[in-house]
Amino acid sequence: MKNYVLVTGGAGYIGSHTCVALAAAGYTPLILDNLCNSSAKVLDRLATISGAAPRLIEGDVRDRALLDRVFAQEPVQAVIHFAGLKAVGDSVVDPLLYYDNNVNGSLVLAAAMRAAGVRTLIFSSSATVYGEPDESPIPESAPTRPANPYGRSKLMVEECLGDLYRSEPGWRIALLRYFNPVGAHESGLIGEHPQGKPNNLMPFVSQVAVGTRPELVVHGGDYPTPDGTGVRDYVHVMDLAEGHVAALRHALAQPQALLTVNLGTGRGCSVLEVVQAFERASGRPVPRTIGPRRPGDVPAYWGDPAAAAEVLGWQARRTLDQMCADSWRWQSGNPEGY
Ligand SMILES: NC(=O)c1ccc[n+]([C@@H]2O[C@H](COP(=O)([O-])OP(=O)(O)OC[C@H]3O[C@@H](n4cnc5c(N)ncnc54)[C@H](O)[C@@H]3O)[C@@H](O)[C@H]2O)c1
Repeated sequence: MKNYVLVTGGAGYIGSHTCVALAAAGYTPLILDNLCNSSAKVLDRLATISGAAPRLIEGDVRDRALLDRVFAQEPVQAVIHFAGLKAVGDSVVDPLLYYDNNVNGSLVLAAAMRAAGVRTLIFSSSATVYGEPDESPIPESAPTRPANPYGRSKLMVEECLGDLYRSEPGWRIALLRYFNPVGAHESGLIGEHPQGKPNNLMPFVSQVAVGTRPELVVHGGDYPTPDGTGVRDYVHVMDLAEGHVAALRHALAQPQALLTVNLGTGRGCSVLEVVQAFERASGRPVPRTIGPRRPGDVPAYWGDPAAAAEVLGWQARRTLDQMCADSWRWQSGNPEGY
């Protein structure tokens, strides 16, 4: 009986929440993570939430010999591949690092899967593959023109996996394009803990609310949006986690499949809406100033989630208020992270 779901990057933010959703759906996650952006302490938290901690294999997804050993020794029915680097700015400074980790890492993994006869793969892609869209909501058929090495690394992997799918029968591959994951598990035991200064809005806002940072600088207040601030499609990380379970279940039921699916809410929220929702959730003020626009930022975009609903039967259910309440529970209970 092939029973593990190998979760690369499973100690990280989205991966750890997906381990919770997998366990709740009756799957057994097996984590492979080099802990370059996460902590093994997450395992105790996962044990408290799910009743048992997933096993962790500490190692790198680019280590082919390790992957061959894992596939030879462990019964793995499918892989969810989160392991990768995700800071857009860093990818501009060190593109080779990003291409090595994200593209090469995915190729080594896919080759090891092929050799082992494991052909079900759910891949973490990103809405950054769309770059600046012509319109929102963005359907999966929109042109892809990523504006930075991070986004290009995701698109390259999508294309490689599409070619792999077409090269031989039996592959079931889901390319999941996430919009903006935020929030935390409702227990407050796991969440996002960026190292250094956060690049994303929600961790920044929570750090200001908890007092770790003095104020939020909003990047741009003169965009052509209702309140002048940038608009994004924020999706609760537990909804996203459940989207992976839906994609896995769907893939495993097909003889073969190649799916490209947006995971978002289909609704855009502005920076100021998020800040106000966070103030309500935390009962704390979030001091802010409006700064200049950040080069490369798109004024507004949100995803079209229709395909995810139709094909996977998945829809984001949690509201912006829940996203903020859960982020606050995690941040206020764990101001230093794990
Ligand atoms: N968080 C977002 O906003 C977002 C949006 C779209 C897509 N994604 C993608 O989703 C995936 C997960 O993102 P996250 O937010 O959970 O990030 P994260 O950094 O919290 O998790 C990634 C995990 O992968 C591990 N890792 C990195 N390189 C590795 C390697 N070579 N071998 C083994 N482990 C490795 C890290 O230690 C970490 O635990 C990434 O691929 C990211 O690009 C994230």
